[in-house]
Amino acid sequence: MTGVTVRVPAKLNLQLAVGPPRADGYHDLVTVFHAVSLFDQVLVEPAGRDGVTVTGEGADRVPADHDNLALRAVAALRATVRDRGAVHVTIAKKIPVAAGLAGGSADAAAALVACNELWEAGLSHQQLATIAGAVGSDVAFALLGGTAVGRGRGEQLTSALAPATQYHWVLAFADGQLSTPAVYAALDRLRGERGDGAGEIARPELDTALMSALRTGNAARVGQRLTNDLQPAAVSLFPALRKTLTAGLELGALGALVAGSGPTCVFLAANPERALELAVSLSGAGVCRSVARVSGPAPGAAVISAG
Ligand code: C5P
Repeated sequence: MTGVTVRVPAKLNLQLAVGPPRADGYHDLVTVFHAVSLFDQVLVEPAGRDGVTVTGEGADRVPADHDNLALRAVAALRATVRDRGAVHVTIAKKIPVAAGLAGGSADAAAALVACNELWEAGLSHQQLATIAGAVGSDVAFALLGGTAVGRGRGEQLTSALAPATQYHWVLAFADGQLSTPAVYAALDRLRGERGDGAGEIARPELDTALMSALRTGNAARVGQRLTNDLQPAAVSLFPALRKTLTAGLELGALGALVAGSGPTCVFLAANPERALELAVSLSGAGVCRSVARVSGPAPGAAVISAG
């Protein structure tokens, strides 16, 4: 085989409930992941030594050495299957970098699927998911796609029952990035200032009203149940987001929230026509760098060509 190309989606968190910091520095989560139709493409080819090239949206901000999450995923898979050759990974980015959409995790998931195919390693989805969980908190979900509940660091997944409903989202990309660890640290700080000791922070719980709204496919109810515990922290580090969120709601979005650790803002629309109107109005309002219309749930990392 001379090369394998994998397509992999961005994710939203329709609920992101964050517990107190754990001893290992991570936070226990309960989150509802939702994959959307904004895809990176990752090509893996045999090479003399491991390397990575990144093109597209924000490519200059992705590490092109062994810190690259996709190369770390390749190394993790090689440690399991042993004696496999070096590869070059070419990542074509559409998912913006450090935007709260798990683009780096998506590329790592894609690299796992592509190398499993290229090397004819024959690992099952479950085996790949175990490796994915060790590479990063969001990598296992990028393999799975759809809509799923994540627990632990986010890597323990249960697929949510998938009704036929497609949800229509508008993403408002910000002029700037946020670092995920910095946003978690800001949340801990804000909670500390409010006087919540770690022991008093509620254990994260799944929002059953959101899950039942998703099951019935009622977009208006889903819109009312979107929550993200990281949002106040993201807004405190990036105050312009407040204006973006307010603008989207005033323009008729069914719901609005910050994507993951931000700074992308996410808006739910009732149908594709409303999503188009909202995207045009948000662009015109000058409250973000650019907008994209996407739908979800989208499938997880999948081979689109191999030869
Ligand atoms: O797992 P990943 O490398 O994607 O996480 C990036 C950073 O985000 C972690 O180093 C940690 O600071 C923070 N994080 C966290 N709790 C989680 C997931 C991520 O504190 N459940």
